[in-house]
Order: sequence, then C-alpha cells, then structure tokens
Amino acid sequence: MHQTIGVLDFGSQYTQVIARRIRECSVYSRIYHYTTPAAQLKADGVTGLILSGGPSSVLTEGAPMPDPGIYKLKVPVLGICYGLQLIALQLKGKVDPSEKREFGHADLKIVKKDVIFRGMPNTLRVWNSHGDHVTRLPRGFRAIASSDNSPYAAIEDPKRKIYGIQFHPEVNHTEQGLHIIDNYLKRVCGCIGDWSMADFIDQSVASIRETVGDGRVILGLSGGVDSSVAAALIHRAIGRQLTCVFVDNGLLRKDEREYVVDLYKRNFKLDLRVERAGPLFLRKLRGVTNPESKRKIIGRTFVQVFHRSLKAVGHADFLAQGTLYPDVIESVAIADNPAALIKSHHNVGGLPKKMKLKLLEPLRELFKDEVRAVGSALGLPKEVVWRQPFPGPGLGVRVVGNITSRRLRILREADAILQDEMMSSGWYYKVWQSFCVLVPVKTVGVMGDERTYEYVITIRAVESVDAMTADWVRLPYDLLRTISSRIINEVKGANRVCLDISSKPPSTIEWE
Ligand code: XMP
Repeated sequence: MHQTIGVLDFGSQYTQVIARRIRECSVYSRIYHYTTPAAQLKADGVTGLILSGGPSSVLTEGAPMPDPGIYKLKVPVLGICYGLQLIALQLKGKVDPSEKREFGHADLKIVKKDVIFRGMPNTLRVWNSHGDHVTRLPRGFRAIASSDNSPYAAIEDPKRKIYGIQFHPEVNHTEQGLHIIDNYLKRVCGCIGDWSMADFIDQSVASIRETVGDGRVILGLSGGVDSSVAAALIHRAIGRQLTCVFVDNGLLRKDEREYVVDLYKRNFKLDLRVERAGPLFLRKLRGVTNPESKRKIIGRTFVQVFHRSLKAVGHADFLAQGTLYPDVIESVAIADNPAALIKSHHNVGGLPKKMKLKLLEPLRELFKDEVRAVGSALGLPKEVVWRQPFPGPGLGVRVVGNITSRRLRILREADAILQDEMMSSGWYYKVWQSFCVLVPVKTVGVMGDERTYEYVITIRAVESVDAMTADWVRLPYDLLRTISSRIINEVKGANRVCLDISSKPPSTIEWE
C-alpha cells in the first residue's frame, strides 16, 4: 500500500496538473471532490492533503468550502491559491478582495527557507492568478515569503503543518515549482517517493478487472500512441475479453495496416479485427472539398463501420478509448464554448451514446509523456511509443480539396520518402510532427527533355509541446534537398516540393 496524497478539487483548471506533479515526485495521489468528508479522507489513510486553486472567490456566498474537519486530521495541508485563502478564512484570519487581479509573473521574496523553500534562491519568478488576498494571518501562522502585491504570498503553521501559497507551483512558469511540491511531499508529509508507473499499471490492471468482471470490451485501435497503450494495458488486464477493431479508412499512410496487424496480432496476440473500408470512405468523400464536410463524413463513416464491426463481434459491454487528460479538457472547452471549435475532431464522444456501451478510459488522468512511459513499461516498441501524432481523418485532411485514389497514392509515396529521411537522419524523434501535404495545384516542370504538369507536395514539420501552438522546424537544407529530390525523382505525379514555414497560430498544423 503506497502513501496517498489527497488533492481536494475546487474546480481549478490545474488540479490534474497538481496530481501529475505529485506523480513526478514518485508519490501516489488521488483527486477528491471538495465536499469529501474529513472522516472519509481519514478512513482512506491519506498522508497529506493539497487544496487546489479554483475559479471562485472565497468571499462570495456559496463558494466551495471543504469540511473544516480536514484541519483536525493531523495530516499536513497545503493550500494553493484559492486553497490558501480557504485556510486563511476557515482558520479565522482575514481575506479581502484586491483592487486589481494579480495575473501572470511576480517576484517572490523568500524569507524562510527551512522547509518548503529549502534549497532555493532568495527570489523566484512565480505564476499568479488570483483576485483576493490574505490580509490577516490566522493564529499560529507566519509569513515565509512575500511579493510586491502581498506580504503573505506563502505562509505556514509549522506546528499543525499547514502551508499556504498564493502562486501556482504546479505550472511550468513557476521557477522551482516542482521542487516546492517535492519539499512539501517529502519534508512535510514524510512521503518516501516509492511509487512508479509500474505501480500505475498494477493499479489499473486491478481496477480494469474489477470494473469489467466477465464482460466484453471493444476498442478502436488506430495504431497511434494513445489507443495502442490503452489496448496493451487492457489486454494485460483481461486478455481475450478485449477485442480491438482497426478501421482501414483508405486514408492511411503507406503500409500502415500491415504494420499494425503484424505488431498486434502476431506479437501481442491481440484479438484484432481489421475492417477494410477504404472503398466505402472514398465513395462517400467523392467530390467533397470542404474541410469540415470531409471531417464530418469521415467521422460518421467511422462510426458506421465500427458499429457494423461491433455487430459482427457479437456482444460487448464496454467501449474502451485511449482518452488522455488533455483530450478531456479540450472536449469540455469545446462543449462550453462553441466558438472555440476550429476543427471537428472525431476521437472523443459520439460513439458510446449511439452504442449504449459503458466507457472504459484507463488513461483519462494521464498526460502524453506519462502514457509513453506506461507504453514502454508494457513492452510496446519505440516506433509506437514515440510515434508522431496522426489525425483521425488521416490523409483525408492532407490531400487538400477533392480526395481521389491517385492523389492519395502520390501523397502516400511522397510521405513515405519524407518519413524515411526523417528517420535515417535522426530528425523524426526530434520534432512534434513531420509530413507531406498534397496541394491540388498543377505546375509545369521538366524531366529529361519532357515537359511535366504535376501536383505540388508541401513539407510540413513542426515543433510543439501540446499542439496548441507550434513553430515550423528549421530542418537542415541538405536534408530538405534530399527529401525534395527523392520525391520529385521517385514519385510519379509530383514535380514540385515546397516548404511550409507557417507557425500556429495563425496557421494550424494540418492544412484542413
Ligand atoms: P491542428 O491542425 O488543429 O492540429 O493544428 C492539432 C493537432 O491535432 C491533430 N489533429 C487531429 N487528431 N483527430 C485527431 O486525433 C482529428 O480529427 C485531428 N485533427 C487534427 C493534428 O495532427 C495536430 O497534432
């Protein structure tokens, strides 16, 4: 049994990031709703608590409040932002609204460096996002750091082991943020830090077995990192109770279906059904040029094919998906704000409602790099674990405009050359994505003595951390020259290669 840190969630957009930072410190964490009674936390044996930030003000009527019993559990408490203000208010200090909201960077002056700031310089650049601030400390507390805006930017009651910090240590913009959390976990809560991703796998396997019982699970395997890791994890838990369906939508890269079948069917012994639906997709896409229409048709046809496959499998109780935490936020953001929809993604939602299946999403709380760590620990090869992202609609959004078999063939050949060169030059794993786009414009060229009139291929290579923003990669000229001359010489139907030098925003990564 590992030590557990309970994170009480007050609705912060960063709660999962806090949990993730705790995992980075090799400690197990569990997120609780803020209303969880202290008795429950005690029964669960939490080693320490963290109160998250939140969008509310503690001063408004009906603001989310935790059970005051949490301060009497004799376990350490760390309040972050809203959490700090809760501590000040509930333990009888004073919180006032600020004249101006403090948002962004601030300089933190550390006055006591013995516990949570141990080993740090005297000042830190930290990230703030709050309106209210503490104006009087509760009894037993003292300030351990200040900022221009507040003398109480960090406070402690060393006797009761209660800490509060005004800024967000969990975000990347805060210097030494992880170190602060680590100090709290190890120096205040006494955590040993013996939890690892292998433990995550054991815990997930146990929980999948319990949830599924003797039911059947179906999973749409795309061959990308997320669905591959989900499949490998669920397969480890329930073996042949899992059936995976791979839909060949005719928009895959060169040899992709063969690779997936070989890896999962032969090596992993997965129950893998392959739906060869290329002709159906191409029929439905015939003459369609609008990017959103293309995406919608591909999404709908996928559901239709998947449904048909499910019927052939027979009975299923669960639909498994490789949903990650960032997907969860993104789909919530889209649901809340229709204006935020720039492109329809077809991976989250949609399917389960139609199919009356329960959802099984074992990676829901993880971030991409953690999923990669799980994948490696499960024995997936590097080519899968470190694969660049590939969009659900596949080459459908990389053949600009009308999709035809000929254009797909040209793009597939060109893209295979690019991937080959990226791999052999060592650039493939250094970039976020690298691929070709077929631009349906014909230009004049000359091959030998002959005039050619063929399509334009564009090279798109971007670096990014989360795909929300991206910059084009400065690939070496020699590499670009090799890719360009190989494409023009080896791919029939393309006679010109361009380089896309747009960043996101204002462009997007995919062309459609
Ligand atoms: P954009 O083009 O919006 O893409 O800058 C951001 C990232 O998302 C990928 N992408 C998709 N992934 N289903 C997916 O699973 C989709 O429909 C989809 N559309 C774009 C894209 O490759 C990039 O990594």
